[in-house]
Amino acid sequence: MCGIVGYVGSRPAVHILMDGLGRLEYRGYDSAGIAVLDGGKLVVEKSAGKLKVLQNRLNGNLGAARLGIGHTRWATHGRPTDFNAHPHTDCRHKFAVVHNGIIENYQELRTWLQERGHEFRSETDTEVLAHLVEDFYRGELLQAVLQAIPYLRGSYAVAVASEYHPEEIIAARQDSPLIVGLSEGEVFLASDIPALLPYTRSTYILDNGEIALLRPDGVKIFNSRGEQQEKSVYHVSWDLRAAERGGYPHFMLKEIFEQPRALRDTLSGRLDPLTGRVRLDGVKLTPSQALGIKKAAVIACGTAHYAGMVGKYLLEKLLRLPVEDDVASEFRYREPVLDTSSLGIVISQSGETADTLAGLREARRLGARILAITNVVGSSVAREADDVLYTWAGPEIAVASTKAYGTQVAAFYLLALFLAQARGGAPWVEELAKDLALLPQWAEEVLKLDGQVRGLAERVASQEHAFFIGRGMDYAVALEGALKLKEISYLHAEACAAGELKHGPLALIEDGVPVIALATQSELLPKMLSNIKEVKARGAWVIALTQAGNTDVAREADEVIYLPPVPSLLAPAIAVVPLQLLAYHVAVARGCDVDQPRNLAKSVTVE
Ligand code: G6P
Repeated sequence: MCGIVGYVGSRPAVHILMDGLGRLEYRGYDSAGIAVLDGGKLVVEKSAGKLKVLQNRLNGNLGAARLGIGHTRWATHGRPTDFNAHPHTDCRHKFAVVHNGIIENYQELRTWLQERGHEFRSETDTEVLAHLVEDFYRGELLQAVLQAIPYLRGSYAVAVASEYHPEEIIAARQDSPLIVGLSEGEVFLASDIPALLPYTRSTYILDNGEIALLRPDGVKIFNSRGEQQEKSVYHVSWDLRAAERGGYPHFMLKEIFEQPRALRDTLSGRLDPLTGRVRLDGVKLTPSQALGIKKAAVIACGTAHYAGMVGKYLLEKLLRLPVEDDVASEFRYREPVLDTSSLGIVISQSGETADTLAGLREARRLGARILAITNVVGSSVAREADDVLYTWAGPEIAVASTKAYGTQVAAFYLLALFLAQARGGAPWVEELAKDLALLPQWAEEVLKLDGQVRGLAERVASQEHAFFIGRGMDYAVALEGALKLKEISYLHAEACAAGELKHGPLALIEDGVPVIALATQSELLPKMLSNIKEVKARGAWVIALTQAGNTDVAREADEVIYLPPVPSLLAPAIAVVPLQLLAYHVAVARGCDVDQPRNLAKSVTVE
């Protein structure tokens, strides 16, 4: 986790670093810090708490600095305190280091360095790097970092600055993202693209093992042996507005409302609604390879996993392809049974989630072909996969994932059509393609329910518990609805397969408890009506979600949210929207920090 920024050039560095950290705060926000070269001295300012605490502490000082590195932290090793905040420095305070990731062998290194006389100030794993660089330094910063890096085991993105080199920053990455921004007479560094967008769109996306030397007059990239590398410039096509709040009070609300656009972008150019043909540029699977797939395994975390559950229902129903689904942290340790006839479907908005990446590697080790569904071009997941199906949701900033989910589900419809095509066609192709093309329109329709959902949210906000029930694909959506509510409003929310109510959860239903009942699967509607009656009989306050026209539901539920007439198969991509809005409005009503919920972070690059 954590966000890194860096700047060297002719502008005031502090302003650029703080601006960049603000755009990366979603990566972690329990402490922050910067190190700059001010009047030839290395000055470090850092503090526990959100970025504004650091901003107050800086109070407009250090305006002359033209080089600096900065960090926003999500604690892994060591509590979120001033001491543990980055940057960390060596014994004599000549080298400053910021780090994202985990140095697994830091205890060993720390003991070794202590034996050599180094004195440590923090409890972090990161500090060992500052002392290693100090130990190896013989007048060249790059050489010292090149020598230190092989000692590190684990994942890292690091930036190093030194008082001895007022025009140099050294950056290195292994399994944690790092991007260099290029501009005339100045160079930027960041963990993620949005931090660079106000300044440049020309970037180098560092690869594992690469080390960059950043100077105002340019950037040199080296491999781990110190040999200079050729690197092609990646031009970012997002604009800054896309990464900013655009007038919405929170990123989450903005991102919920972006879903029609996100879906349109994800489908456009790939789907011919008339013939049902799909073209997926990054998917290289040939028809004979597609025919050879006997089983698929969905590997993902959090919201991406719930999108994958929808995918499982879909591929099994439409293609009769057996699909397992796992949260990545379980997949990698349960000795899954995959082989060369398996397809690992790895889903990750960020493409950097550590467990997901490890799951990908495990699936590959077992012989599976890997297809990634991800939102970030050049992310680790994208680079390690055989096939990539990008979701074009645009940058997702709020910690709680919203627009990425809808596009991940849409990616599964495209994949189903693609696999059917590769297998020589299927009777459902034309109808699904025609309906799929309407998804962005339905997403627009469903957003009109915001007013109704806000009204219901007021009552939910005063409760302590909420339950989400559903059957089939609706169960997967219920899980996502409960996750959204609990993660941002801190209200206890639980999802339950509606048929399982009687095996336990029903005991928790009492007068006035909100039960959100998903009833979008036409074949399962009679069963859902019985479940709604079951909870009603115990006093639950039932909010049902169903397509317009299902009047039976209105007879049983207390409130009905009517979705546009989306077919059951496509309902998950639309039914999730009122649930996202519900979570949002409940969190606002409860005064929660919507975009940065406590204890969570957007991109979980640690296990
Ligand atoms: C974190 C985020 C979630 C996200 C999950 C997986 O927990 O808070 O919103 O669903 O990570 O992230 P990924 O980037 O792999 O989709």
